[in-house]
Amino acid sequence: METHKRVLLLVGSPKGPESSSEALGRYLLGKLGDGGFETQGAYIHTLMRSAEGQQALLELVKASDILILSFPLYVDSLPATMIAALERIAQQQAKATQTKKQKLVAIVNNGFPEASQNNTAIAICKRFAFEVHFEWMGGLSMGGGGVIGGQQLDRAGFAAKNARKALDLAAKDLLEGEPVSQQAVQLMAKMAIPKWLYIMISNRGWKKQAKAFGAADKLENQP
Ligand SMILES: Cc1cc2nc3c(=O)[nH]c(=O)nc-3n(C[C@H](O)[C@H](O)[C@H](O)COP(=O)(O)O)c2cc1C
Repeated sequence: METHKRVLLLVGSPKGPESSSEALGRYLLGKLGDGGFETQGAYIHTLMRSAEGQQALLELVKASDILILSFPLYVDSLPATMIAALERIAQQQAKATQTKKQKLVAIVNNGFPEASQNNTAIAICKRFAFEVHFEWMGGLSMGGGGVIGGQQLDRAGFAAKNARKALDLAAKDLLEGEPVSQQAVQLMAKMAIPKWLYIMISNRGWKKQAKAFGAADKLENQP
């Protein structure tokens, strides 16, 4: 069991505290805190808005032993502001003289039901870890991230059951200094509700939103 590790959660969703990225990342952070690690969380989009914020972000990363990136899939990739942040971190790491081995874990959630849509984003994070000399501890990928609905993971009910179990396992691995297990990765990628139900609920949600914006009859419009 490792002790006194500093863990930094960077949330890459512009929705910040209301995001599924926050719920997933914060749950893992909580478990690592319970296990004795020192934890801290920050929002990439908030910090990247100013030069001072960017500097604070770099300082936080420098001081961390384990970095958790939790973010939504945007067009099969990472949100643009997050890419900009990773580029800044890479510049800092290239100049770094410290020798401590830092670790990186990624959590990606997306809107489509298939977690496999996140494979490219996970590969990007793995490559980033390699480039900045962080030890890659694994990527957890969740499809149908909408089921969390802006709540804490503990309150997200049955639909988030597998995500909670997966993150419990991942926390145990990380507390023991091990990479995230395949069991955790597989559980995270498995939707707790049937795909047809997720699609039905999502379609209802879109229709409700369209109605609220007076666009209910425009959903089938094409350019
Ligand atoms: C600009 C944008 C691009 C997106 N691109 C994808 C995508 O390529 N594939 C996908 O499955 N979901 C995509 N989504 C959906 C988000 O990944 C999904 O809603 C996610 O659950 C949001 O997580 P968050 O609450 O952490 O921000 C996109 C959403 C936005 C706003």
